[in-house]
Amino acid sequence: MGISGIDSLTYGVADVAASRRFFEDWGLSLLDGATDSAPVLQLADGGTICLRAASDTALPALPPGYGQAPPSTMREVIWGVHHADDLQAIEAELGRDRPVTRDADGTLHTRDDLGYAIGFRVTRRHALTHEAVRDNGPGRIGRIDARAEAALPYRVRQQRMVHLVYWVPRQSQQMLQFYVERLGFHVTESVKNVGHFLRCGASGDHHNLFLQTRGDNYGFQHVAFELRNIDDVMFCGQHMEQQGWKSHLGPGRHVLGSNVYWYFWCPAGGIVEAGCDLDFITDHWPAKELEVVPAGGSSWFVRAEDAGLRPGHGDWPQFKA
Ligand SMILES: [Fe+2]
Repeated sequence: MGISGIDSLTYGVADVAASRRFFEDWGLSLLDGATDSAPVLQLADGGTICLRAASDTALPALPPGYGQAPPSTMREVIWGVHHADDLQAIEAELGRDRPVTRDADGTLHTRDDLGYAIGFRVTRRHALTHEAVRDNGPGRIGRIDARAEAALPYRVRQQRMVHLVYWVPRQSQQMLQFYVERLGFHVTESVKNVGHFLRCGASGDHHNLFLQTRGDNYGFQHVAFELRNIDDVMFCGQHMEQQGWKSHLGPGRHVLGSNVYWYFWCPAGGIVEAGCDLDFITDHWPAKELEVVPAGGSSWFVRAEDAGLRPGHGDWPQFKA
């Protein structure tokens, strides 16, 4: 199907101004021409975050699984594909058993098997290139007569969106089949009673989609952003805390995917993850099935209070009675 990754997310939010401020602090740029009521923010690769008031009737309706509607959440993901032919293939495949609409600009809109709004378009993102970090170590001199870039603080720029996480209650197998059999995602690894890490058919990222099962939890959980290196992750998290935003978990390093992480509660809904150094996967990697997540999920973490915690812990508005 030629799906390569996340092109755009649209959120419906209770507070547009606060959500915009959050993503600007996070390291996105406001796009020219964006209005105050529906700002669009951009990443380095051209990916976008679109913010709208939750009351905006043009937003995709919340999917039916939310027991209690959260005041703010992500409403629709647009996946990028390489070619117009890919869009036609998706339209034909999904049109067999659900409504698929097409915008004037060619973007497709439909829903997955749990009702989450999904869309597809020929990608508007571009490839990123960065020089390798020039650092020094035992027997290896990469930087001479110069301070490191990170010797002084700087504001980070978010590079691209890497993955989404949905909670998938019980019907996990159905959602897995939908994304693998209907949309050409590959399973990187699965963990018993925890979930499935999937990558797009045209992606080497360890995962672009994680279907996580935890009891009957349902809903959008997080989107992960990729930064250049661990200094970027630390500067990002430090700046967010200085601006008064609340850390959810981190910093630390995941076992599955290997990536460094730092999560924050997001006023636009759910949490966001800043990360770097994710595993790159090819067809030589056999899909793995694990009984448990090794080492509790994190190879290291900095804050003692993070012991035993996993992404998604805490109070979520849709689960309140
Ligand atoms: Fe993540």
